[in-house]
Amino acid sequence: MDKQINIKYHEYSSLAELEPADRTLAEEAIKAMQGAYAPYSHFHVGAAVRLTGDVIVHGANQENAAFPSGLCAERTAMFSASANHPEKDMESIAIAGGVHGRLAKSPATPCGACRQVMAQYQTKAGKPMSVIMVGDGIIWKFDRVDDILPLIFDSI
Ligand code: THU
Repeated sequence: MDKQINIKYHEYSSLAELEPADRTLAEEAIKAMQGAYAPYSHFHVGAAVRLTGDVIVHGANQENAAFPSGLCAERTAMFSASANHPEKDMESIAIAGGVHGRLAKSPATPCGACRQVMAQYQTKAGKPMSVIMVGDGIIWKFDRVDDILPLIFDSI
């Protein structure tokens, strides 16, 4: 039997179309790009995580001459959020990126490793964590991490 997985997501053409909390988080992700340290790729990525109680934590990509030692913006933000606010749940994450810090036209899509880490914190929270990918003039919102990582590994 053939089966199909369908993914629902929302598309917006400006930040003004987002609901207020999402818009704020998207704007924070754009601000967070300023924290990028990307001397090799020159691709600046910012991430903003909203925790329960409307606490927002920033992250930005950090590169290193020993390439695998660097870290993406999303995991920088999530690990910082978890380390500093272990009692809070992650409700949403927004991501923005672009060459030399200029927001790219296409939305910033998180890498596979960052999706897996999102999945873990969503499972820990026991409720959906939304993912907002911000581009210049196009924004995508996924209501839960499962939508960008179908068949999530979480079995240990
Ligand atoms: N990067 C992120 O920060 N997030 C992603 O989801 C994909 C890639 C960073 C890693 C590296 O510093 C730069 O973008 C180019 O790959």
